[in-house]
Amino acid sequence: MSLFSPLPVAPGHDPSDAHRAAQFTKFRLRRSDLSDDPFIQFHQWFSAPQLQSHIPETVTLSTAELPSGRVSARTVYLKELDARGFVIYSNFGTSRKAADLATNSYASLCFWWKPVERQVRVEGRVERLTPQESQVYFNTRARGSRIGAWASQQTSVLVPQSPSQPHVVRAGGEGDDDADDGRAELEARVKEVEARFDGQDEIPVPPFWGGIRIVPDTVEFWQGRESRLHDRFRYTRLEGEGATGWKTERLSP
Ligand SMILES: Cc1cc2nc3c(=O)[nH]c(=O)nc-3n(C[C@H](O)[C@H](O)[C@H](O)COP(=O)(O)O)c2cc1C
Repeated sequence: MSLFSPLPVAPGHDPSDAHRAAQFTKFRLRRSDLSDDPFIQFHQWFSAPQLQSHIPETVTLSTAELPSGRVSARTVYLKELDARGFVIYSNFGTSRKAADLATNSYASLCFWWKPVERQVRVEGRVERLTPQESQVYFNTRARGSRIGAWASQQTSVLVPQSPSQPHVVRAGGEGDDDADDGRAELEARVKEVEARFDGQDEIPVPPFWGGIRIVPDTVEFWQGRESRLHDRFRYTRLEGEGATGWKTERLSP
């Protein structure tokens, strides 16, 4: 398929087929299928055998800066689901998500699981894990990844070492393949961190790195159906006046 061909038509196919995207026909979702608890429902869907070779923990995390309202999204890994929410790990010093969350503590997660034709959307407030909690996960990471977390000032610009090298390099421009493009600064930082923790098995979690938990106020389960007549159920947390638990509503596709 060419990126520049708006309606790719395979030989032998009726051109009108090209307008039609795939149909979703594998499963359906009824209210009677749902758990009362969205965490249990999520766990059931996440554990579907069809997903196990498809890295189901891959998820889009969206955040929004205030007051500009500009939204940013990136792929992360869901690492834990606990009784309160969905936990991911990242840099909370220099990354864009850190800057966004400093102004607006709401975030959303969006999972797409093609083998089962399902989407899950999570929205809620973000809370930081304690350094002690983050340390527990940090200890499970390979040494190289722990060193990398210290070394990388995530999303900050890496400046080429050679003074003759322009700071901003246009993609595809003429250039010396061996000239530093900024990577040397990262590798120098890695060497520094390796030297700092040389001979030390246990590495403390960096103060600017750790877990956040998205504590949901809504969770939506979407099951693809034929003719775009999808099944959607949204859980909304019941709050106040002694109410606990979740309200579930079927949404129009
Ligand atoms: C499959 C995949 C998984 C990723 N997992 C993480 C993750 O768990 N934590 C993280 O900080 N970045 C992860 N990244 C990198 C992020 O997408 C992103 O580049 C980084 O977090 C910086 O984003 P930000 O500056 O917008 O915050 C992952 C990228 C991919 C493609």
